[in-house]
Amino acid sequence: MKKLLLLLIIISICSCKTRVDAVTDSPERLGFVADKAMVVSARKEASGIGLSILKKGGNAFDAMIATEMALAVVYPYAGNLGGGGFMVYRKANGETGTLDYREKAPLLSTKDMYQDENGEVISNLSKVGCMAVGVPGTVAGIFSVHEKFGSMPMEEILKPVIALARNGYVVTENQEASLARYREMFVQVNKDSILYSGDFAEGDTIRNFALAGTLQRIAENGRDEFYNGRTGERIIAYLQRQKGIMSMQDLREYQTFWRKPINMEYNDLNIISMPPPSSGGIVLGQILKVIEDYPIDEYGHNSVKTIQVLTEAERRAYADRSFYLGDPDFVDIPVDVLLGENYLEGRMENFSFSEATPSSEIEHGEIAGYESMETTHYSIVDQFGNAIAATTTLNGAYGSKLYVEELGFFLNNEMDDFSAKPGVPNMFGLIGAEANSIAPGKKMLSSMTPTIVEKKGKLWLTLGSPGGSTIITSVLQTILNVEEYNMTMQEAVNAPRFHHQWLPDEILFEPNAFNAEILKSLKAKGYHINEGESTVIGKVDAIRVLPNGKLEGGADRRGDDTAAGF
Ligand code: GLY
Repeated sequence: MKKLLLLLIIISICSCKTRVDAVTDSPERLGFVADKAMVVSARKEASGIGLSILKKGGNAFDAMIATEMALAVVYPYAGNLGGGGFMVYRKANGETGTLDYREKAPLLSTKDMYQDENGEVISNLSKVGCMAVGVPGTVAGIFSVHEKFGSMPMEEILKPVIALARNGYVVTENQEASLARYREMFVQVNKDSILYSGDFAEGDTIRNFALAGTLQRIAENGRDEFYNGRTGERIIAYLQRQKGIMSMQDLREYQTFWRKPINMEYNDLNIISMPPPSSGGIVLGQILKVIEDYPIDEYGHNSVKTIQVLTEAERRAYADRSFYLGDPDFVDIPVDVLLGENYLEGRMENFSFSEATPSSEIEHGEIAGYESMETTHYSIVDQFGNAIAATTTLNGAYGSKLYVEELGFFLNNEMDDFSAKPGVPNMFGLIGAEANSIAPGKKMLSSMTPTIVEKKGKLWLTLGSPGGSTIITSVLQTILNVEEYNMTMQEAVNAPRFHHQWLPDEILFEPNAFNAEILKSLKAKGYHINEGESTVIGKVDAIRVLPNGKLEGGADRRGDDTAAGF
């Protein structure tokens, strides 16, 4: 009977969706629309450079390389050469896959390297300075993409990026505020002034000649320039002067991995997302599978019942994340079980609409706060029908804050994504267990969720977000906003978001965006509400294929994000 009901609901959603897409997506509701190709990223310069590669006849993979590197120039907050990331792709012929270019722990890392002699975690050691830095993967990532799918010479792809670094880019209002916030810390951590500790104001131009030189050498000498050459040697020399533990052997042994995506069905959608060492695909899949049985379209967007269902599903999925997930090359992850119907059916058994399930009844742990925005995501669809979703990161804002002045880029603080000690939260308040403990050469667990969605077997959405632990729930809500609430891509990205991650046991809401009556009603049911600690949740950059084949961008209003296309 339940299955029949579900079928009727699905049929009504599907038919309703077709009608709405065709009739009521009025132009004023749509974001930027392009005929055949689009790039959406955190900065207009990066979207523009990605697009220029497509216009020259390059494909989505060539544009990925250019956009990734342009973000390293213009958005050093998260764009990087000194970090890592993940990419999900869907080729025009329907073939899908993912690339893992995540950082890894240096070979001299140890399980308790962030604990003092009493076993207490020395909190800043994994967040700031030389001990926080994981072996960078981004440059290896772009070369892996180029080797497998690139259609233009690397020199040609990097040419506009090098020109951007040399000629400079204009500081935005957001960027002025962000640089001012970290200026003193840059000098303190680097024990010297750096390019980015300059007193930059909105409208100023920043030229990064050191980075232009590094990119030029990479264009000429290839991957080895970074992993077995002069650039690598300078990174290691800088880190060793700071008393870090990374060595040339770490760089030489660094590898990317092509991994099979996590695939899950929801209504008539096939969702293709990132497998471990990101938790994104599994957690997103668990939540979607659990909520599929609830008619959240009838409950209404951001209504009390919808918030309850999503929160309770998120609470349970993040509890599983904490216990089961880590680097699949080091731990066995029961992926099929975690995403299996039998397992998930039982997860909501103790949920009731009349009151919250306390997180302590799901698992135990201490609470912690949230860090703000970091990481960055971009989405690309090319004129040939290929699509990519890529999320790249230094982890925290400007990573470890260590900046190699002669090379022109920041180094990550990705080591904080490991569990420094079971039960002790990281900067996102995420609790880890043995599966995500530190080991030499191991990749730290991530929440990055680059995702591509097919509808009825055809490319429909490509999306992702920054935001640490809030990435997964931002991606989730954006998909649901389009699928369940008939929003356009831009509306779905703009809509207010909320987040629950098991611990701390609270729902984080974007401030002043939710109806007071709804929050009151949730409080009365025992939910803990946090409406103040984070100004925004996620910054989603997405593309939707419209029924007429054109592309609609969703560039998040929360940042300087921009869609560009033709
Ligand atoms: N550094 C954020 C993440 O990978 O989830």
